[in-house]
Amino acid sequence: FHNKKKLPVIWLETNDSGDNNIAFMNTTYPYLGRVFTEMIDLLYSNTFMAAQGRGALSILEQVSETYKGKFTLIVEGAIPKKDNGLYNAIARTETRFITALEAVTRLGEMAEYVVAIGTCASFGGPTAARPNLTGSAGVRDVLDREVINVSGCPVNPDWFVGTLAHLLMYGRPDLDKLGRPTLFYGFTVHRHCQRRSYFDNKDFAKKLGDIECMFSLGCMGPRTSADCPYRQWINHVSWPVKANTPCIGCTNEDFPDGSSPFFTP
Ligand code: SF4
Ligand code: F3S
Repeated sequence: FHNKKKLPVIWLETNDSGDNNIAFMNTTYPYLGRVFTEMIDLLYSNTFMAAQGRGALSILEQVSETYKGKFTLIVEGAIPKKDNGLYNAIARTETRFITALEAVTRLGEMAEYVVAIGTCASFGGPTAARPNLTGSAGVRDVLDREVINVSGCPVNPDWFVGTLAHLLMYGRPDLDKLGRPTLFYGFTVHRHCQRRSYFDNKDFAKKLGDIECMFSLGCMGPRTSADCPYRQWINHVSWPVKANTPCIGCTNEDFPDGSSPFFTP
């Protein structure tokens, strides 16, 4: 990243489980320290920053004005829309709550890029699963502009850090029809799966733990886009099928309702 200014970033965590920032901290190419010192200038993050309360809110107000049109807004989590967004408040002033709905709408209009990290922020995900009492939705349903969706439950750190690196080095990456970088979501899991020869020979597993293709157990690999089979997880050593569990389609627009039940008995 030599000779490049760092990418100014405002990161809002909304309704989610926090799994995506934990996944992000597991980045290995590059390691987290290098991401913070060479790649991104983290101007505000209600997860990573030390400031709280009024002090944190004034930082957000200042940096969003100073870097208007130049910062990348990262949203982690779905946005509750019901009851004017009252099911997630990112801050409170003397007189009112500032909801995630209001903050994302306002910051989304001011940002150069908007990146949704994880399936909740991208498409609603588990936060918007039935019965979705909070009326939660992905960032794309809140903003009237392009959102770069880096889906996954959680995201693979390479997909997210790689997207930020692309924004820093080359600008906007090519996106698929769901707004995801084709670099990482260009092929189905099924296409490169190590059990593909079993599928082609119609040789299917009868139970979890069998070595054959798990399509018979509900594997979603044929309709799920991600590079898990060769990028892999946990420092690039394994991934669901290698660990004997079907792909449950965690990067999909309809995850998890469209994947349930996860295993076909
Ligand atoms: Fe495709 Fe899943 Fe079978 Fe792998 S295990 S070949 S992804 S259906
Ligand atoms: Fe998710 Fe399927 Fe990869 S469940 S982690 S997209 S193998």
